[in-house]
Amino acid sequence: MHSRILILDFGSQVTQLIARRVREAGVFSEVVPYDVGTDFIRDYAADGSLKGIILSGGPNSVTEGDTPRVPQIVFELGLPVLGICYGMQAMAEQLGGKVENGKVREFGYAEVQTTRHTRWLDGVADAVLANGMSLLKVWMSHGDKVTALPQGFEVILANEACPIAGMADETRKFYAVQFHPEVTHTVQGRAMLNRFVHDICGCSADWNMPDYVSEAVEAIRQKVGKDDVILGLSGGVDSSVAAALIHRAIGDQLTCVFVDHGLLRLNEGKMVMDMFARNLGVKVVHVDATEQFMGKLAGVTDPEEKRKIIGREFVEVFQAEAAKITNAKWLAQGTIYPDVIESAGKGKKGQTIKSHHNVGGLPDTLNLKLLEPLRELFKDEVRELGLALGLPREMVYRHPFPGPGLGVRILGEVKKEYADLLREADAIFIEELWNTPSPMTTEKGEPMSWYDATSQAFAVFLPVKSVGVMGDGRTYEYVVALRAVQTQDFMTAQWAHLPHELLGKVSNRIINEVRGINRVVYDISGKPPATIEWE
Ligand code: XMP
Repeated sequence: MHSRILILDFGSQVTQLIARRVREAGVFSEVVPYDVGTDFIRDYAADGSLKGIILSGGPNSVTEGDTPRVPQIVFELGLPVLGICYGMQAMAEQLGGKVENGKVREFGYAEVQTTRHTRWLDGVADAVLANGMSLLKVWMSHGDKVTALPQGFEVILANEACPIAGMADETRKFYAVQFHPEVTHTVQGRAMLNRFVHDICGCSADWNMPDYVSEAVEAIRQKVGKDDVILGLSGGVDSSVAAALIHRAIGDQLTCVFVDHGLLRLNEGKMVMDMFARNLGVKVVHVDATEQFMGKLAGVTDPEEKRKIIGREFVEVFQAEAAKITNAKWLAQGTIYPDVIESAGKGKKGQTIKSHHNVGGLPDTLNLKLLEPLRELFKDEVRELGLALGLPREMVYRHPFPGPGLGVRILGEVKKEYADLLREADAIFIEELWNTPSPMTTEKGEPMSWYDATSQAFAVFLPVKSVGVMGDGRTYEYVVALRAVQTQDFMTAQWAHLPHELLGKVSNRIINEVRGINRVVYDISGKPPATIEWE
């Protein structure tokens, strides 16, 4: 049984980061909404695996009446609790301290000092001061602050602007900080969370991918028994890792369906078939539905309409194939943990800007039970799992690719001729990104290519013609736009400052090698206000 840490989410933008940091410390952690209920928390703690609770930050103020509070049971389980920002304020207020609406809001970089020695922070320091206390560089983001301690607590961190920047009741193992240890700007943040889960909560570091593979394989075998499973393989990271994992567990009981809608990247179909069918020996049904999709898309120019058509057709083709696999009882999907957290917290934000279509959006009419073996994993864990299962690095670290594929990268009406030109241009861009070193390095100090240094990069087909000159002749051909962005969460993104030499080389190659394109432009719009895709 794994040690577990429960994170109560009070609505901070960075709650997921807390869970990721805890998992990076080798400890399983889960995020639940703060109002998940007393019974849930009691049941969660019942088998003894729950070792501590972390209260996230949040946008509200405890000084206002009807704002979130910590379920009382959190303070009654006898477990360590760490409050972060709003979590600290709620803890202080509920245990008898005082929180006031700060006149000055404090955002961004700050320095705090420890004011006493604690089991939690002793030895954690960016610099040690003459009096033996630690100086810590942290990230603050708050308006309210704690102005009086609850009974049993002492100040453990302070600076001028925030005299109670951290507090602790070491007897009850309750700790709280006003800043955010989960963000990388808090230099010792990792160390703080590490120390909390290991030294204060007593968790063992038993969450790691190689062990997880055998556990997950066993769990899948237990769950499906002798039944057959269908999986929609898209070539993306999640469905690929799910396929490899399920295949490891149940071999030939898994059939993958790979639908080629004619809007995939260059050689994608071949790559998927080579890797899964030939190398791994997975049963893959490859459906070439290009004509069907192109037929339905003919004459359609509205982006949302295109998405709907592609989504609908996809489901239809998939269902027709699935119906042929008559003994299947399960439908496997590559749902990952951030999707699970997000749908649990729906209603808070969740405004749809574009209707996203995923391979996952299949209807209930298939009458299949759902198998989602990646439900507990963050994206970086899915990648690690992929590597542990023997998938190649280039596949596991691939940029995300939208469900409607090139359909949203060909502006206006989709035609096969356009898709063919775009595929070639896109492949050249991606090849050059892979082959060009960036100045960035990984956390381990390894060099990163520009492909790794960007979060998503692709070419976009513009169905307009412009005049050019090649050799002695005048040309009148299509335009391709290059897009490369850097982002943490795809909600906001910066355009990547690719070197001019690299852009120049890509442009030259596309214009020389792709007959039908005579002009290449680079998209320098951030998100917002632009979106990452052009449609
Ligand atoms: P936007 O264009 O909204 O994209 O800034 C954000 C991220 O979502 C991807 N995206 C999609 N993914 N189906 C998907 O599966 C879609 O319809 C879709 N539209 C956008 C996009 O590639 C980017 O990673």
